[in-house]
Amino acid sequence: MAIILGIESSCDDTSASIVKDGKVLSNIVCSQAIHQKYGGVVPELASRAHEKNIIPTISEALKSASVSLSEINAISFTQGPGLLGSLLVGNCFAKGIAMAQKIPLISVNHIEAHINAHFIEDVKPTFPFLCLTVSGGHTQIICVEGFGKYKLLGETLDDAIGEAFDKSAKLLGLPYPGGPLLDKMAQLGNFKKYEFPIPEIKNYDFSFSGIKTSILNFLQNNTRINPDFIAQNLNDICASIQYSLIKIVMRKLKKASQEFNIKTIAIAGGVAANSELRSKIQFEVQLSNWEVFIPKFEYCTDNAAMIAITGYYKFLNNDFADLSSVPNPRLEMKVIK
Ligand code: KG4
Ligand code: ZN
Repeated sequence: MAIILGIESSCDDTSASIVKDGKVLSNIVCSQAIHQKYGGVVPELASRAHEKNIIPTISEALKSASVSLSEINAISFTQGPGLLGSLLVGNCFAKGIAMAQKIPLISVNHIEAHINAHFIEDVKPTFPFLCLTVSGGHTQIICVEGFGKYKLLGETLDDAIGEAFDKSAKLLGLPYPGGPLLDKMAQLGNFKKYEFPIPEIKNYDFSFSGIKTSILNFLQNNTRINPDFIAQNLNDICASIQYSLIKIVMRKLKKASQEFNIKTIAIAGGVAANSELRSKIQFEVQLSNWEVFIPKFEYCTDNAAMIAITGYYKFLNNDFADLSSVPNPRLEMKVIK
């Protein structure tokens, strides 16, 4: 029997989770509203808020799982990638508990944890599967050949797709994080009204910087002619932007599925909530016989359950970190070349 406490603090959510024998008993997420008025995450404010929230969040996770600290067999934490000041809070706290309770410490890669969120649910994808990770910090396609066996097929060369959603929303005057709001408005609009260029990048890499610039130019040119252009066409602009952003990732995902002949598809990260992505994926389920896995929304966005479940599998493999481990804001995932 193994009870794992997971801590996630890579960006602006402080989260703690208890996993017992591979089952999530609790998953508490404490979000930081303070960043909204700045239109993006302010690193200094994020680390201060983590420091304030971490003990109440862990206490709540233990309480709601009806588990005491002395029953924990190991503690897993996000080592990176992420914001250094934010990572440090979770890292130091995990080390403190490991030392005080004399239990092993397990370091977890945040992106790997997003993939492993698929192992939380009872119905799990079978290997090999393709995982499209689409979040505010990452956009990549990975072929998952086994637990911890990842082949990176492609990733973004600049912005992440969630960032592209949020930055576009900001240009439209929507509050941060604008992705979900842009999605809501897009559902009421006509995606054919405006066209944005889809980048031609070789292999499976992505780029969102070109489309970001073209959206900026498009809005500037039109508001110069008509200052009310955005307000009068908001739903159609949102629908057209969303259509193009999702087209960029779906093209590559379909190409990878065909080339590697893999129809088991997993989607990870906050953008998995997007209605256009979900409808395009559903279309492929019908058309191409895809078997699709999308974790519950609470396990798609940043959460500690994915850190605890990854910790659980590492615990079974005796894959521990030592007390001198430090956070790494640019931590890379170990991949098969
Ligand atoms: O995975 P996540 O919670 O955090 C990171 O690791 O980044 O993803 C957050 C991102 C934000 O950029 C947010 O705007 C985006 O996911 N997002 C969406 C939607 N829901 C969340 N983007 C588009 N449509 C949505 N429905
Ligand atoms: Zn994330």
